[in-house]
Amino acid sequence: MAKSFLLQPRKVPKVSTKHRTICTEIPVPESLEVVKQLRQYEPKSMTGQPLVIWDHGKGDKVYDKYGNKWIDFSSGVLVTNSGHGNEKIKKAIIEMVNSDLMHNYCFPTEVRADLVKKLVEISPKPLEKVFLLTTGSEACECAIKLSRTYGQKVGGTKKIKIITFIDDFHGRTMGSQMAGGSKAAKEWIINVDKDMNQVPFPNAYKYEWADESRDDYSDDNCFNTWMTYLEEQKITPDQIAAFMPETFQGGWAQLMPKGFVKRLRQFCDDNDILLVFDEVQAGFGRSGKLYSFLHYDVSADVVCLGKGISSSLPLSAVIGRADVMDLYGPNKMTSTHTGNPVCCAAALANIDFIFENKLIEKSAMLGKICEANLTTLKQKYSEYIGNVKGSGLVWAMIFTKKNSKEIDCDLAHDIVRLSIEKGLLFFAPVGAGSTIKVTPPLVISEEALLEGLEVLEEAIEEAIVLRK
Ligand SMILES: Cc1ncc(COP(=O)(O)O)c(C=O)c1O
Repeated sequence: MAKSFLLQPRKVPKVSTKHRTICTEIPVPESLEVVKQLRQYEPKSMTGQPLVIWDHGKGDKVYDKYGNKWIDFSSGVLVTNSGHGNEKIKKAIIEMVNSDLMHNYCFPTEVRADLVKKLVEISPKPLEKVFLLTTGSEACECAIKLSRTYGQKVGGTKKIKIITFIDDFHGRTMGSQMAGGSKAAKEWIINVDKDMNQVPFPNAYKYEWADESRDDYSDDNCFNTWMTYLEEQKITPDQIAAFMPETFQGGWAQLMPKGFVKRLRQFCDDNDILLVFDEVQAGFGRSGKLYSFLHYDVSADVVCLGKGISSSLPLSAVIGRADVMDLYGPNKMTSTHTGNPVCCAAALANIDFIFENKLIEKSAMLGKICEANLTTLKQKYSEYIGNVKGSGLVWAMIFTKKNSKEIDCDLAHDIVRLSIEKGLLFFAPVGAGSTIKVTPPLVISEEALLEGLEVLEEAIEEAIVLRK
């Protein structure tokens, strides 16, 4: 179980490097009033993050107002791909605000026209129409609605199943949570939709048949074994409207075997099933490609986008085949804040910034450094690190009890706490509470990345000593 961070300030060694400053107790005693105010007026569910009171951010750094500075390995939560306080995005936002256009519902605007055109231009075929929304959960809900509507159109009321994957996360609204792969997260729903079904994500850590490093691995066996999970649930292709995997699962940062996805694509083509990728966290250069599904060399019918689409303001999108996106007539698929002009301006500037600064290539290049360093850490602390996987600038490390596959949430929590005390910012462990994610803004310098990885190692070392 994930736990809250304590309001108890700790005296910690001072840190002063080019990239980090820690000059107070952590959490900062004077900041606790703010935390207490939040804890009084917000639900308990909001108390999970480390007690760093963000004052401002710049590039790959986050600052509080008490003189402390962190190297950011969180990007908020994989949002600020183009860096915090990005000047180009700021300028676009300010210009739009100064133009006095801050809202327009679904009335046409130039900035929305420019953004949807840009999104289609940068996306591979057959993605040719875009619907803008606000959150990732909404984008997933919309993809589910479109998929079910499409299924019924081509296969009648029987073809409505949305197949998602165990451990997937698609958001916290009702439909997106039903699509999610955590049983515990759905307990409150009780009458979960029987036509939203989960099958295993081909995860090498969990399933030998999905482990490409094994001598006996084969794509055919991987796909055929995976199919048995559908058969066990007596699901037939004529019932399936769509498969909607997270392109890589947030808690694992592990891509599926490419050969598996190619077979899945073929299966979708053979049975008129949509292949929908949830790229809310995986998109916009995060894994070293514009979209992570491009690692698989397949086409997508629908893709959900969010987070890094703007590197800042709340915006999400569904991009898909025209015949799917056009299933609803005028005013039947809209939202109050669809394509808010300020958010659109931010997203346009962000996408331009990503391409102008070759952030996708940079993410792929820095990913090699992460791979080398984190693999070394896994070898050095093999008794406690169960799995390290990632690509580009998204990496996940799973911490376990000594020499076991049983996860250790306390160890992961301590590592995050110690890192923060040393000037390295992570969000709280994710997944089942024992996964630490390394997800810095894509603008991070090699020097800051390497320094952050060194700090992470120190924190792991110290946290393990605390365990003994
Ligand atoms: C893959 C994925 N899908 C959907 C969501 C939900 O997005 P939001 O929190 O913006 O609703 C998230 C958020 O973490 C996500 O990682």
